[in-house]
Amino acid sequence: MRIDVISIFPSYFDGLTLSLLGKAQSTGILDLQIHDLRDWTHDRHRTVDDTPYGGGAGMVMKPEPWGLALDELAPAGSDSPPTIIFPSPAGEVFHQSTARELAQREHLVFGCGRYEGIDERVFEEAATRGEVRLISLGDYVLNGGEVAVMAMIEAIGRLIPGVVGNPESLVEESHEDGLLEYPSYTKPSVWREREVPPILLSGNHGAIAAWRREQQLERTRRRRPDLLRDED
Ligand code: ADE
Repeated sequence: MRIDVISIFPSYFDGLTLSLLGKAQSTGILDLQIHDLRDWTHDRHRTVDDTPYGGGAGMVMKPEPWGLALDELAPAGSDSPPTIIFPSPAGEVFHQSTARELAQREHLVFGCGRYEGIDERVFEEAATRGEVRLISLGDYVLNGGEVAVMAMIEAIGRLIPGVVGNPESLVEESHEDGLLEYPSYTKPSVWREREVPPILLSGNHGAIAAWRREQQLERTRRRRPDLLRDED
């Protein structure tokens, strides 16, 4: 999979060279390219924002650098158009199902907005280059899209076949079957007078599976009852 990220703070993404996603890049499973939006400016100050038409607080990201970035990373008339994602608190909420869907794509382009947002015409232009998605990490406001995009890339990247060594570990996680994960324990069997639930030491695989399922249901009912009602 190819992922391009456009940001005015490219060094936010340095952390994505670590761990599993770093390995996926060195083995060639993931081609992750981070771009500085200011490289598509032409003035001495590398300006990316300006005051809003109609007045109001804050600054708006200018369309011109975004247009040039799209021309390069999502050219018009391509026969393999990318999916272009703008993180935004005003977008659809990102779920595990969103990560699963986007992990199927060949090419993703993430455009990180800052300030009060991006000139609206950029979204219209982007829609001529591929499918455009506005995606929110959740119902809270971040200073910009970078942290949201890092989270999305990590959630998507680990679902690309070959990125996580043991694919079975993906199946048993929270949200994969619509429930929270069951509790896990390792040695020692007694730690600070706290015992591991005896059933896990019983060797009875059927009983262990049933206990884990019950724990998943109980946790989900208690912590996230919304998941038992929702489709996601
Ligand atoms: N940018 C600012 N807040 C955001 C959020 N909650 N999700 C995605 N992008 C954002």
